[in-house]
Amino acid sequence: MCKKSNSLIGKIEKPEETNITKKPRIFHMEKEKLDFLLTRRSIRKFQDKEVSLDLLKKAVDIARYAPSAHNNQPWEFIIVTNREKLEALSEMYIWAKPLKAAKACIAIVTDPKLSPRTHLIDGANATMYVWLALHAMGLGGVWINALENKEMKKALKIPDDKNLLAILAIGWPAERPKPRPRKSL
Ligand SMILES: Cc1cc2nc3c(=O)[nH]c(=O)nc-3n(C[C@H](O)[C@H](O)[C@H](O)COP(=O)(O)O)c2cc1C
Repeated sequence: MCKKSNSLIGKIEKPEETNITKKPRIFHMEKEKLDFLLTRRSIRKFQDKEVSLDLLKKAVDIARYAPSAHNNQPWEFIIVTNREKLEALSEMYIWAKPLKAAKACIAIVTDPKLSPRTHLIDGANATMYVWLALHAMGLGGVWINALENKEMKKALKIPDDKNLLAILAIGWPAERPKPRPRKSL
């Protein structure tokens, strides 16, 4: 028994036998997925083309799989497609202008009562999941920093005991921005 487990450990430790060292194969296998992550952009210009409620619901459906501390999932999602509401929201914060041309937005709301210490982190995870799901469907989006914006909270009818974390402005992309500069590795 002991001998067997030793030989197994020996096998795992041999670099040439671990998957992680088979770089060319792993890179080839995962390239598409890595490219998917690398091609997400903040999209702020949108086509004048409707986004179906089904796609928006699909993005929320996928966001339910975001990780959260203790799997508490302290989040709620508000889908907005009403033009007047989108335009009103776009005026409530200087960096919220993309909401004006957006065809929809999804607000991510967290509940501090469910996860007092981590609801913001969990909510950020859910926001990224929505964003990546939109990207997977060819939709564009940008994170609007709506964090506890009182006016937006009121417009979205979010009660005081919940937290407005973020709003994603959404639409079919009308721009293909280059990647923003990144810190060096
Ligand atoms: C927490 C957070 C808040 C942001 N707030 C805004 C915002 O209010 N308005 C906006 O146009 N972009 C906003 N952004 C988008 C960032 O400017 C963008 O992610 C960053 O410039 C990198 O560009 P990229 O998303 O295309 O990689 C926000 C992003 C994050 C993560």
